[in-house]
Amino acid sequence: MHSDIQSLFSNLWDNYKAVTPSAQEIHCILGGTQGHKIINDHIALRTFNLEKVNLDKLAAHFLALGYTEGGDYNFEAKKLYAKHYEHPDPAAPKVFISELLVEKFSPELQAVVRDIVDQVDPDAVTADNFLYSGTHWKVDYATYKALLAESEYAAWVAAWGYRANHFTVNVNQLEQFDSVEAINEVLKENGYNVNTSGGEVKGSPADMLEQSSTMADRADARFADQTVSIPSCFYEFAKRYPTADGSLYTGFVAASADKIFESTDARM
Ligand code: NI
Repeated sequence: MHSDIQSLFSNLWDNYKAVTPSAQEIHCILGGTQGHKIINDHIALRTFNLEKVNLDKLAAHFLALGYTEGGDYNFEAKKLYAKHYEHPDPAAPKVFISELLVEKFSPELQAVVRDIVDQVDPDAVTADNFLYSGTHWKVDYATYKALLAESEYAAWVAAWGYRANHFTVNVNQLEQFDSVEAINEVLKENGYNVNTSGGEVKGSPADMLEQSSTMADRADARFADQTVSIPSCFYEFAKRYPTADGSLYTGFVAASADKIFESTDARM
């Protein structure tokens, strides 16, 4: 387990940007020439709901750092369950962890996922670096394609393993932009693809959360038999609105997150 939040997120960021070069570029664009600091609203992590590597196993790394459980979320169509975690220090990024409900899929998908998870050393799951340790298994490209046909999420985890699926710019804290729409415009002017599933801006002030994201970069994934360029990770933008007591909303909106998941889907 990590002893401090900063070193955990710094390692997660380095690992993430290695396969998401656009995040570093956009980070610079949004910071402008003044080099204003970009604050991270949250990261997201993905896993399977099998005991050895389930959501709780990932969450343990954050609970050990003083995080507590926030809301939970169901994604019926994608067969996912998620929880978010937050820290008493509002400057610490929130964490959104989802898990694939493996038993709801075909026997073929279940067999592949069980085989993948069987290859994980249980000690690796509690190691300091687990959340940015990538894959712990060998999968060939045909198996990835078979997973992709049934669940884009399952295929992504099989290819990339444990790493931040996205980082998220805290729009409230930006100095040069004050809306998700304005960021989307700058992204498009600079040639980036914005996720349009459910509209470019997901959520509304009434939901107390507006979000958008890029479509994932592509990066080389090493399969057992070959290396192939596939969708890797994406960058997200979140603007939060005050709740009745005046403090900013800290939760997530399931309908919006449902569309954000599709940012890694090359089939879209
Ligand atoms: Ni997110």
